Amino acid sequence: MSAERETPSTSAEAPRQSAPVLSVPVLSVVVPTFNERENIGAVTARLDAVLGGIPWEVIFVDDDSPDGTARAVRELAAADARVRLVHRVNRRGLASASVEGMLASTAPYVAVMDADLQHDERLLPDMLATLREDALDIVIGSRHVAGGSVGNWDSDRQLASRVATRLSGLVLKADVKDPMSGFFMLRRELIDEVARDLSTIGFKILLDIFVTAKRPLRFKELPYRFRTRAAGESKLDSVVAWQYILMLLDKTLGRYVPIRFIPFAFIGGLGVFVHLAVLWLIFDLSGRDFVVGQTAATLVAMTFNFFLNNMFTFRDRRLRGWGLLRGWVSFTLACSLGAVANVGIATYLFHSTPQDGLWWLLSAVAGILVGAVWNYAVTSVYTWSKPAGGLVR
Ligand code: GDD
Ligand code: MN
Repeated sequence: MSAERETPSTSAEAPRQSAPVLSVPVLSVVVPTFNERENIGAVTARLDAVLGGIPWEVIFVDDDSPDGTARAVRELAAADARVRLVHRVNRRGLASASVEGMLASTAPYVAVMDADLQHDERLLPDMLATLREDALDIVIGSRHVAGGSVGNWDSDRQLASRVATRLSGLVLKADVKDPMSGFFMLRRELIDEVARDLSTIGFKILLDIFVTAKRPLRFKELPYRFRTRAAGESKLDSVVAWQYILMLLDKTLGRYVPIRFIPFAFIGGLGVFVHLAVLWLIFDLSGRDFVVGQTAATLVAMTFNFFLNNMFTFRDRRLRGWGLLRGWVSFTLACSLGAVANVGIATYLFHSTPQDGLWWLLSAVAGILVGAVWNYAVTSVYTWSKPAGGLVR
């Protein structure tokens, strides 16, 4: 009886009491991918070449790339247990992919690196040693410390990067020379600490981590030279630039107002000028009825606001084709109700406050505010309803 109990069980349910498997990864390298099929073999081979002696794994996080990157990763993984895949569908975004890759890792040290071989993988062993020995939270592969460089960037890209880095000073307190870097390694406790509060909008995950952490992070920057992309093309475009601005807004004013309300209100302000211009044209210049002018101006301003919001405020939920028409109708309806609320509240306040001083102005502003909040609340739910899969670009 007792002998039977001591026999090691081979059934799947019983946990085995044997020694732990020693090849569990100490380092996970998270590699977000979108259309990088041509590069994943090379990345894996290079990791293999530089990480000798360190138990490692690579986690590709692919957003259902049309070029079949995920399939290629699965083929690699079939022959190499160190290769893993997180395959996301109906999602897009470098920052969110990086976070989900890091969360999928159980290793004590986690790095994030691009798939296109622009980041110098030979830095990884140094990053790991520095992270361990100096008891740091995070080590950054940096292009802007002595010995690092951006390589062959054209002047436009250099300027854009400088402007973005300068802007990061609005939210970043630490003296990080390359806060835009997409190449870094951290202790996994750090990601557990910040994961729930990250913005994960767009590309700038490192900056996001620094700003989200509630304490000063212990960090070090190690220099490397940014290489030119191996195969495929860059995904950094105007959308990414806009998402960066949204992220900065989120990190500064996001505590007080929903971030999208800021561009929404700003565009609304522009709409007032459009309205007045059209009214002036029709009523003042062409001498038509005021009602005609006012009606046309309202319609034009609403349409103007609809398209601008579709292009910027709700870029990630952008409506196209027939969706545009449906969206325009619901936007116009919602804003018409908003206008009724605006006038109603302003009129009520106007009649219930003293008839002197600037009370009329205050009443008007209150009406406008209520109208704007209403328009934002309703159109963000009905016109630009959130896609089921989260942030889609
Ligand atoms: N999963 C996923 N989803 N991956 C993405 C997405 C996405 O929506 N967009 C881009 N990627 C992957 C790419 O496949 C690549 O492996 C990596 O993220 C970087 O994308 P690139 O398109 O090559 O970006 P880049 O070279 O222009 O920008 C790099 O440099 C910037 C600093 O100048 C990146 O490292 C940025 O993080 C960095 O800020
Ligand atoms: Mn790149």
